[in-house]
Amino acid sequence: MKFYIATDHAGYTLKSYVKEYVRSLGHEIIDLGPDSADRVDYPDFAKKCAHKVLEDEGSFGILICGTGIGISIAANKVPGIRAALCHDTYTAKLTRLHNDANILCFGERVVGKGVIEDMISVFCETEFEGGRHAGRVGKIEGCSLGANLG
Ligand code: RB5
Repeated sequence: MKFYIATDHAGYTLKSYVKEYVRSLGHEIIDLGPDSADRVDYPDFAKKCAHKVLEDEGSFGILICGTGIGISIAANKVPGIRAALCHDTYTAKLTRLHNDANILCFGERVVGKGVIEDMISVFCETEFEGGRHAGRVGKIEGCSLGANLG
């Protein structure tokens, strides 16, 4: 699998650890910054990663901020992105199975390295189930203001 990774300053410390772990699983990971722990705005990095994931078909993203909340909210503003804020292996597995998530998000200040490793592993191993979930995922793109969901 191919991943793009980005963080803000509050997720920066974990970035090199996560990159190494993803590579140890045999996957490719491309770092979109930032390049230091200086203060940055998470929407800028969420957007950068979201656009790369959309441009590079079949690729996935990893986004990290302090809580994982801001960076996931920002990424989900980009149509076609399904960024899942996960805290455990159950949510990381189910978001691939049911939501076809294309970006995994978590908070550096929230989850530990062991949980992060397990979430990444299960995210990589789990395929979208399709079937009844495909229609629901399709409807997500219609959830903007004014859209008629029927
Ligand atoms: C930065 O202090 C922090 O607000 C950010 O990393 C994130 O947690 C926002 O949701």
